[in-house]
Amino acid sequence: MKILLIGSGGREHALAWRLTQNPDVELHSAPGSSALAALGKVSPVAAENIPAIRSLAAEIRPDLVVVGPELPLVLGLADALRGDGFKVFGPSQKAAQIEGSKVFAKDFMIRHSLPTASYAVFYDPLDAKQYLEKTSYPVVLKADGLAAGKGVAICGKLSTALNALNSLSSLEAGQSLIVEEYLAGEEVSFFGLTDGETVLTLPSAQDHKTIYDGDRGPNTGGMGAYAPAPLVSGALEKKIVNDILLPAVTGLRVEGAPFCGLLYAGLMITMSGPRLLEFNARFGDPETQALMPLLKSDLAETFYRAASGTLAGHQMEWSPMSSACVVMSSEGYPGPYRQNDEIRGLDAANARPGVKVFEAGVGRREDGQPVTKGGRVLGVTATGPTLKEAVDNAYAAVGDISFKGSHYRKDIGMKAFNQGPLYPV
Ligand code: AMP
Ligand code: GLY
Repeated sequence: MKILLIGSGGREHALAWRLTQNPDVELHSAPGSSALAALGKVSPVAAENIPAIRSLAAEIRPDLVVVGPELPLVLGLADALRGDGFKVFGPSQKAAQIEGSKVFAKDFMIRHSLPTASYAVFYDPLDAKQYLEKTSYPVVLKADGLAAGKGVAICGKLSTALNALNSLSSLEAGQSLIVEEYLAGEEVSFFGLTDGETVLTLPSAQDHKTIYDGDRGPNTGGMGAYAPAPLVSGALEKKIVNDILLPAVTGLRVEGAPFCGLLYAGLMITMSGPRLLEFNARFGDPETQALMPLLKSDLAETFYRAASGTLAGHQMEWSPMSSACVVMSSEGYPGPYRQNDEIRGLDAANARPGVKVFEAGVGRREDGQPVTKGGRVLGVTATGPTLKEAVDNAYAAVGDISFKGSHYRKDIGMKAFNQGPLYPV
């Protein structure tokens, strides 16, 4: 099976690594990375350049296209490729609005009675200001549109909210603004893989969004993840599926935007149950790096069935082990960061049993020497019979690796060790 994978990050490396464990898979990727080049053929075509990706697909004639990142989906890549006759794992532009527009997503949640924080939408910053002057705190301000994690501000008091309003209103993505109820609890990522009708669930995962230990510092793309999340009991999982994932997939279908791909529910597990923070229209990064080593069945077949509308009766098989991914980042990230530093120790880390280092921001010099080439550089991932062992194995592998200015959190998975189910179901 010829597969064209769109993307270049750690998530795509993890997907590609799993896909190519099927010896019948011939992998192509765009724009790819040096890690993806080791698994197949890479074409340096930007993921969001839709005409160029279409030409590439016309040349390669893949049996399946898998779209990793959200931007090409929101720009309509899946529609264009389907129009050209290709099978695509990834939602249409219309269905991807679930991630691309926070206003669409919130209105959709309300239309389908999905549990979420109460909210108000503003198109004029002055109206928002008046509302902020009389509401109670904390509140959360969100700019509409894809803002790469920079469009959200949690505000404990009026002055912070007014500052946030000023900076969000000047964001390009900020044509409209949401002011939302603050939800207290634990965040969980929960993924449904769907052909638009049948939904297969993946093990729950938790991300670590901030740069420093103890959930301090600015938000990043994700500094580590683990799976499954012990706080998601079997009963809670059922509730998430029945109250959130299934009605969401049905809702998108009845609204004429069937969702084919990976529907990511970003949840806050509160004392009164799971609440939706957001939907994403693609796999999470770095949750995917933690999840892929737990997948036992063939991913290529699952993607192909999802893209063909034949998921009914199909199952994914998961290992009962736990998995942890520790992200190593460049000095300065999530601000301007160092680059082109030599990375040492990848082979030693990868040689450890149960360890796989996924590459997010790595380049290779002509002599093959890996160098840093991004803010998030590596997702050092390990499995173990318990979460504790998985975390220990991942940190042992991190200890093999070095590059100038490297940073990683020392507390990935820690809060889960002594945590039972939080929500009493
Ligand atoms: P989002 O871009 O919607 O995922 O928001 C980014 C982060 O802001 C989330 O991962 C949460 O940590 C936090 N957040 C968003 N909405 C809320 C909310 N209503 N209550 C508490 N925290 C929130
Ligand atoms: N791990 C967060 C995200 O992929 O959006």
